[in-house]
Amino acid sequence: MSDLLKGELEQLLCGRMGRPVRHLESVRSTNAEALAWAAGGAPEGALVVADEQTAGRGRWGRTWLSGREASLTFSLVLRPDTTPEELGLLPLTLGVAVADAIEELTSLDVSLKWPNDVTRDGRKLAGILVETRVEGNKVAAVVAGVGVNVAWMSHEIPDEIADRASSLAIELGSEPPTRVALIAAILSWFEPLYDSLLAGDGSEILERAMARSDLLGRQVIVRRPDGTELDGRAVRLLPNGALEIESGGALQAIDAGEIERVRPA
Ligand code: BTN
Repeated sequence: MSDLLKGELEQLLCGRMGRPVRHLESVRSTNAEALAWAAGGAPEGALVVADEQTAGRGRWGRTWLSGREASLTFSLVLRPDTTPEELGLLPLTLGVAVADAIEELTSLDVSLKWPNDVTRDGRKLAGILVETRVEGNKVAAVVAGVGVNVAWMSHEIPDEIADRASSLAIELGSEPPTRVALIAAILSWFEPLYDSLLAGDGSEILERAMARSDLLGRQVIVRRPDGTELDGRAVRLLPNGALEIESGGALQAIDAGEIERVRPA
């Protein structure tokens, strides 16, 4: 039985995140499962965690590949009493919590690549997918999904992502932390940051995200959701979670997109 299924998790959790918890050995996507649970009334803090995803979801409709028991894959249900606009910093908040937890448990230096990839030396260690359900102009539920490559060895990384993915085991060159320790650490770093976000104070999140960003000050190419690209210098992260780019002497806020390329410093 995996480390996630032994009831150890409940013992390690100390806040209100991760209650109640659904452990699944295999599921298509923990985000899909958590969204269905949220539609059925799951409370804030409810957690779906799986040993294996057979159809993990990534950003922009992509597939998220993970290894059975080699990856930490979970989704948290949140029910903030806010409008979707007030949640612009939520993906970055999760990114900061995941990065802090990894550093706490491994002492690896990790970075945040806007909007919320956790990377080391440019290779992705963790991805985050936030999906929101809105009723009227209010948020009915948010599902925050996190995938961390924990125990993959180099030869186990699928060919499609081998050039840009890494894992904690590879970076450490030794035994990685257990998934149960990692999830407990992520949730405990996340909860106070989330509370400050709900209280309308995103300043610490922004500061910590900027301190971890490996993009600021560098020339980047950003691809927007409509496929257009912007070439410019990454200046800062804005209070709504957007990335500010200086291009052709003008500043532009990019709300959604992804970094296509970072030019060498
Ligand atoms: C990305 O970088 O594209 C986001 C990846 C998010 C993956 C996680 S794994 C747990 C949760 N369930 C999913 O189906 N996706 C997220």
